[in-house]
Amino acid sequence: MLLDSAFSLFVLGIFAGAASQRMMTKVPEVPNPLHRRVCHTVTTDKGKTDTICKHVNNIIFANPMASQFWVDGTTIPEVDFDVGDSWSGLLPISADPNETRKLFFWFFPPGPEGSFDDLILWMNGGPGCSSLEGFLQENGPFQWGVGTAKPVPNVNSWTNLSSVLWVEQPVGTGGTPNITDEDDLSVQLIGFLQQFLEVFSELKGKKLYLSGESYAGQYVPWIASHIFENPTTLNLSLQGIWIADPDLGWHVVQAQIPVVDFVRKYQNVFAFNQSFMAQLDSIAKKCNYEGYYEKFATYPPAGSLPLPGNSTKADPGCDIWNIVFQNALVKNKAFNAYRIFDTFPVLWDVLGFPGSFEDVQLSPVYFNRTDVKTAIHAPPDVDWTLCTNKDVFPHGDASLPSAFSVLPNVIEKSVRTVIIHGLADFVLIAEGARIVIQNLDYFHSIIRIRSWIKRTPGNGLQGFRTPIIDDSFLVDGVGSLGTAHTERGLTFLEVELSGHMVPQFSPLAAFQSMAFLMGFRTTP
Ligand SMILES: *[C@@H]1O[C@H](CO)[C@@H](O)[C@H](O)[C@H]1NC(C)=O
Ligand SMILES: *[C@@H]1O[C@H](CO)[C@@H](O)[C@H](O)[C@H]1NC(C)=O
Ligand SMILES: *[C@@H]1O[C@H](CO)[C@@H](O)[C@H](O)[C@H]1NC(C)=O
Ligand SMILES: *[C@@H]1O[C@H](CO)[C@@H](O)[C@H](O)[C@H]1NC(C)=O
Ligand SMILES: *[C@@H]1O[C@H](CO)[C@@H](O)[C@H](O)[C@H]1NC(C)=O
Ligand SMILES: *[C@@H]1O[C@H](CO)[C@@H](O)[C@H](O)[C@H]1NC(C)=O
Ligand SMILES: *[C@@H]1O[C@H](CO)[C@@H](O)[C@H](O)[C@H]1NC(C)=O
Repeated sequence: MLLDSAFSLFVLGIFAGAASQRMMTKVPEVPNPLHRRVCHTVTTDKGKTDTICKHVNNIIFANPMASQFWVDGTTIPEVDFDVGDSWSGLLPISADPNETRKLFFWFFPPGPEGSFDDLILWMNGGPGCSSLEGFLQENGPFQWGVGTAKPVPNVNSWTNLSSVLWVEQPVGTGGTPNITDEDDLSVQLIGFLQQFLEVFSELKGKKLYLSGESYAGQYVPWIASHIFENPTTLNLSLQGIWIADPDLGWHVVQAQIPVVDFVRKYQNVFAFNQSFMAQLDSIAKKCNYEGYYEKFATYPPAGSLPLPGNSTKADPGCDIWNIVFQNALVKNKAFNAYRIFDTFPVLWDVLGFPGSFEDVQLSPVYFNRTDVKTAIHAPPDVDWTLCTNKDVFPHGDASLPSAFSVLPNVIEKSVRTVIIHGLADFVLIAEGARIVIQNLDYFHSIIRIRSWIKRTPGNGLQGFRTPIIDDSFLVDGVGSLGTAHTERGLTFLEVELSGHMVPQFSPLAAFQSMAFLMGFRTTP
């Protein structure tokens, strides 16, 4: 079951859903502090000058409830610089005054260069992993990276682009997690956003971008589909989605079929001997993985792509991912499935999850510290770990993979869609994402929302029609760093040297592609 464990390598309480009634029961009569920043004069790229406080003044929230969420940017433990004003805490997922289910959020207004007209929402995957991972180690305004001694400002913070909202979801700890599928999850998140907009109503009407990675390849398209299909439920204007190393289709496609080609491509990293490689080849042949990519990932594709065997995960004896992973750990104790280039020793991680596994730390996990919880209005009684040990889908996720259900329609409704993939990711392999995309059926988009199923006609074309060109992803100041391909609103990017968490491992590539999604540049 290693394949499963690959997606739950992250395994353990997030703040979301802690049944603290403290927040919403009574609105304290606290005067709204003025979170005004010093105004700077900035020179825009067109050579004009502008003052930043023009945007930031807007972010003085009129609702007195906002002030209870305010975080003083000079008081965040271990952060020895001012990160500016932000707002965090728990909000319920419905307007029911007795609602106990809450989600934890951390909201940052745009930095000096960011747009106040836009709002990015970020979600990590798991399922059940905290989006504070992304906050602290991927795209937040300050970063505390694996193997480093203290937090530093993040020059590639997505707050340079616009406001950003990190949300721990779905409801995990506290109340009993009882969601059955992506519809339940979407209803929770949208319910939370409604409550969020009541408190932070100055954000109403903004352009919304949903982003995330890994299992958020399920969350993001499903939530987007709910928003597009119910346009009046949320006063935000959804523009597009950005997903990194996403879980989109069947595991056998994204984490079995491409394994042997991947091991050959990186043979110097895996350091397997020839007899072992021959064993892998024979398994790949027996399981119909061999030659699958060459035969079926054609441009355009020949038709609907078949499963290689009888299972959407792996047939008996065909879990080649697990065989490779176990043997990679023999050669390299620090083998990191999330970024294969890591070597011994395993580095210290302030979030307690430095590589393939959770690590026992002598020092406290950052978000589990009482002083940190106090600073960000997190419930003091919840033990925070990067991923919850409660299954947020107690009976599994009953939704179809996004690629076979809502994704085609979401691509069509979005102004732009970005799927980005690290080429050094072994948890999910980029060639697998290519196969999933070549199997995307733009004609049949199934939208299942609660009790009804709707088929929307797409534009009738499956997959990309023209091939992906090598070295076509040009990153500013770097040069080519992978591939870029856009057809019919979908941009697929592959990033050399990046592992699973693209904003962490290739922050500039992530930033630039997000700027493209938001229309701040014309090329990815
Ligand atoms: C909330 O709970 C209280 C106490 O159980 C109950 O009296 C009240 O009717 C509930 N309110 C709603 C809106 O359900
Ligand atoms: C983000 O903003 C900071 C401060 O204005 C700037 O130094 C940095 O270069 C910006 N980063 C990007 C990727 O634009
Ligand atoms: C989950 O439990 C809550 C009460 O804790 C209930 O209101 C809700 O309907 C349940 N959801 C599902 C999908 O069962
Ligand atoms: C949505 O928000 C905008 C901006 O605050 C506001 O002008 C508009 O009236 C709102 N629309 C609805 C339907 O509430
Ligand atoms: C070749 O690799 C396999 C798997 O790592 C190992 O079990 C075997 O002992 C190796 N053979 C030699 C000769 O090193
Ligand atoms: C798939 O199922 C069929 C029929 O049950 C069986 O003949 C075949 O061997 C199975 N294939 C694999 C790869 O297990
Ligand atoms: C979090 O803190 C609690 C209480 O201090 C402790 O029992 C628990 O082991 C901590 N969890 C982690 C992962 O450090």
